Amino acid sequence: MKDLNDLFVHLLKDVYYAERQILKALPKMAKAAGTAELKKAFESHRSETEGQIERLQQVFEMIEKPARGIKCEAIEGLVEEAKEVMEEAETPEVMDAGLLAAGQAVEHYEMARYGTLIAWAGQLNLPKAAKLLEQNLVEEKNADKLLSDIALRAVNKKAA
Ligand SMILES: [Fe+2]
Repeated sequence: MKDLNDLFVHLLKDVYYAERQILKALPKMAKAAGTAELKKAFESHRSETEGQIERLQQVFEMIEKPARGIKCEAIEGLVEEAKEVMEEAETPEVMDAGLLAAGQAVEHYEMARYGTLIAWAGQLNLPKAAKLLEQNLVEEKNADKLLSDIALRAVNKKAA
């Protein structure tokens, strides 16, 4: 990598990989969740993620690069943590609190990555790409907020 453009393309591939991993993980998390609200939150974020992947494909088109991911160790680790929760939780309450925490870790990871991509798209004079990435960021923030609300309202109390 020689310049900001190379970094941008690399990070875009990284996030593209991450979103596709999340798309596969969310239905499993929804299935494992006991609280109806949490199940619904994971399911609706799953369909949002499909739209996010499409936006990323549009960004690849704009910069005339093939939409291709590269293995992202960070998301592998976060998805692995969610798997651990699903294997090791011994009560439904612990399962939901653990899934919530895993889900929020994923959202925060994505928020960090989109924040950087948007800044770099600005630097590189790609306002249309920045706009698409901004839409993804807003969805991640909303998903994170919804998970926080569910945690405070229901799940953490039950797990205590
Ligand atoms: Fe996402």
